[in-house]
Amino acid sequence: MIAEERAVSFVRSLISEEDALLTELAGEARACHVPIIRPETGELLKLLLLVKRPVNILEIGTAVGYSAIYMSRYMGRDGHITTIENYEPRIAKARENFSRSGLSERITLLAGDAEEILPSLSGPYDFIFMDGAKGQYLCFLDCLFRLLGPSGILVSDNVLQDGEILESHFTVPKRNRTIHDRMREYLYALKHYEGLETAVLTVGDGLAVSTKA
Ligand code: DHB
Ligand code: MG
Repeated sequence: MIAEERAVSFVRSLISEEDALLTELAGEARACHVPIIRPETGELLKLLLLVKRPVNILEIGTAVGYSAIYMSRYMGRDGHITTIENYEPRIAKARENFSRSGLSERITLLAGDAEEILPSLSGPYDFIFMDGAKGQYLCFLDCLFRLLGPSGILVSDNVLQDGEILESHFTVPKRNRTIHDRMREYLYALKHYEGLETAVLTVGDGLAVSTKA
């Protein structure tokens, strides 16, 4: 947790999720250790979506479909979500959840490696949620910039890695160092990307909000 725990608990106590399916999926995800967006991350996504009312949304990293179902409630009329996932057990679960939510027509799940799928997409997307493999964000950035429409919004999740990317290189377990190094490079690239304006926020697990400006 990046923000002070008491503050996060207080903020969370103000949030009430009323959707029965999302509540069930959140409980299931917790029990099965499947990561889903944090409540305060959801709150910011909701606000951005309500301001933007995007019609074409792209998500990298479907997991079990929680965030796609969540985002679908706040997209524009006739909105559509394209979401990419590469991990077979999660793909099956996400398809089941989309079908249960009655959203199969509004959400297209592309099964496979985002690195191969992204170049085949044409867009433009007015909202992109980057939540896939954490070491790959930087590799996807040029592709996502191409796919992002004018004034489009790119939200990148988990960019502060529970605060670990702030730590000394040598106090972080070796297996995590590469991801953290790459995430730092990603944040630097985002902040210096010609044509993007980015705010890096300490919301949830760290959220970068960018717009094509
Ligand atoms: C984790 C959290 C995420 O939001 C995510 O996209 C992937 C992993 C985690 O806490 O492990
Ligand atoms: Mg995430």
